[in-house]
Amino acid sequence: MSRAMVAASTSQRREKRGPKVGTTGPQITVTVQRGGPEGPGRKQQFQVPAYDNQTVLDVVSWIQQNADPTLTYRFACRVGMCGSCAMMVNGVPRWTCRTHVSKVLQDGAMEVAPLRNLPVIKDLAADMDTFFDKWVSAEAVHHPTASRDDPIAPIDPEAPERVTASAGIECINCAVCYAACDTVANNPDYLGPAALQRAWTLYNDAKDGAQDTILDAVSGKGGCHSCHSMGSCTAYCPNELDPLSAIAGLKRATTRRFFGKGRA
Ligand code: SF4
Ligand code: SF4
Ligand code: FES
Repeated sequence: MSRAMVAASTSQRREKRGPKVGTTGPQITVTVQRGGPEGPGRKQQFQVPAYDNQTVLDVVSWIQQNADPTLTYRFACRVGMCGSCAMMVNGVPRWTCRTHVSKVLQDGAMEVAPLRNLPVIKDLAADMDTFFDKWVSAEAVHHPTASRDDPIAPIDPEAPERVTASAGIECINCAVCYAACDTVANNPDYLGPAALQRAWTLYNDAKDGAQDTILDAVSGKGGCHSCHSMGSCTAYCPNELDPLSAIAGLKRATTRRFFGKGRA
């Protein structure tokens, strides 16, 4: 793409996304929690031009592009696929690229902060290492039963176990559920709803070969039995998944195994 084309497409994008700096018109008062690994720093206020169909991510991007280039945040797809843009918005965890400002504005203002229950890299960018380390600890990683040289085994999409596995397959790893979970907040060892949900998905996947390993991993300290079943994970999941039911499935499966019973 030529330099002129880049400039043209940039100005077209700006027109599409919203007004330039200095435009008069309705404004949003945005409070941003700044800080780093050492802890929360100051809260900073910005006036951001308001326009139709504006998302919270649009607002944060406007601040970074027009008011303070040092503001750190994370996003990639802008369409609810990658799971990288989640933040606290007015104290609630949300995917910011799919959250319209009109839904969260309170008296013309809103506050954004990094995701709860995770360390902070800088400003609005949470450090996701702990979140993904817990997926590994929960054995929420595929344990193949065949090699790439084997023929692909057919799977009946209507089989009950496949239906159960498919229920959680659309997780985008956004950590909204993890930020919403009070058990995670109070118990740093707790594996959390997303890792446990993926463990349940793999437990029910006919192509995964480590059912006992998964149950071992999720039945110990910080495993599925630490869940208090209050359901914040399911209430806040932006993809309308149900980690609460997945964790209940793990509780049943680990209990059945403890009493020497097979799968239900
Ligand atoms: S139901 Fe369990 S995993 Fe979900 S938010 Fe509550 S304690 Fe956390
Ligand atoms: S279960 Fe939902 S809220 Fe949790 S990481 Fe997956 S998509 Fe995000
Ligand atoms: S930027 Fe990818 S989900 Fe929001």
